[in-house]
Amino acid sequence: MTSRFSRRWVSCTHNGCQNSASQTAEHGVNPLSSTPGIDNRPAHAFPAALVAALREARHVVLLSGAGVSAESGVPTFRDAMTGLWSRFDPAELATPEAFERDPELVWGWYEWRRMRALQAQPNPAHLAIAGMSDHLPQLTLVTQNVDDLHERAGSDTVIHLHGSLHQPRCATCGRSHAFPDEMPNEPEGGRRLPPPRCTRCRGLIRPGVVWFGESLPEGAFYQAQEAAENCDLLISVGTSSLVYPAAGLPHLAKAHGSQLIQINPQPTNLDGHATWNVVGAAGQILPALVAAAWGSTRAQYHPGGLPACADDSQ
Ligand code: APR
Repeated sequence: MTSRFSRRWVSCTHNGCQNSASQTAEHGVNPLSSTPGIDNRPAHAFPAALVAALREARHVVLLSGAGVSAESGVPTFRDAMTGLWSRFDPAELATPEAFERDPELVWGWYEWRRMRALQAQPNPAHLAIAGMSDHLPQLTLVTQNVDDLHERAGSDTVIHLHGSLHQPRCATCGRSHAFPDEMPNEPEGGRRLPPPRCTRCRGLIRPGVVWFGESLPEGAFYQAQEAAENCDLLISVGTSSLVYPAAGLPHLAKAHGSQLIQINPQPTNLDGHATWNVVGAAGQILPALVAAAWGSTRAQYHPGGLPACADDSQ
């Protein structure tokens, strides 16, 4: 099997920017584990085929994970030392059994996370994703994130596969529960906090997220699957591609003929399957990608005055 694409690395020359892009061979080994030649073309010079695939796409699915909110100060789950799971045991906090066993521990932890999410602001990655829908015939935004940063950045249709921190409900009757308007005021790392009671059945209110062992919201996952089967480009950004069934969506899309772009500063299981692996931070790569594909309004997509991509200099 001869591969269509030769593998390339592009090392970034911008100050402090660690972005690089590679085109992987169809059945390539993980580019991050081999040491290809370094190519010193200017950074953000995305492969032309990648930019064309985005610019000419009929229907793009963008699958986002915790890495997209990382630059907003919302901790990821699995990043060593900083990820939530390096500090808290998911089995102790993110399962129905844990809530059954110790509702105050679980509720307090989720109130702390909700506070962090409310204190955070959308970053240039969220803004760039929201801006993509201005340029694409169809964009389906599927997120594993339980924060509302996509919506606050202006994305109007967001499929939340793992629920939302902002949509609690009764654990007994399922009735949705409204949070008070004021910002939660939780100590770092959370504290034990009794969950409120349902106004209909007095059952305990639980966080509106999907816990390990629970099914995804049926409608949401069905929509995501359908979009993956019908898109011509899927962009997987800021996810470790470890948690199924969400992590299966890129493979489903590829099996239906779609090309895959992965954006992540670290290697993941998707490396060898992606058409293009773009190694870098979402908050830098996505604005640059939008600029490369469609030009951009500098203010909106280039944080901290990063020089625009080649396109803008025209
Ligand atoms: N830009 C892009 N990617 C980033 C950035 C960044 N600035 N910072 C970190 N990442 C990458 C990490 O390299 C990692 O691959 O984001 C990924 C985060 O992975 P996880 O912490 O595993 O988060 P995610 O993939 O979203 O987790 C999936 O697991 O714990 C459950 O329900 C939870 O929705 C979550 C699911």
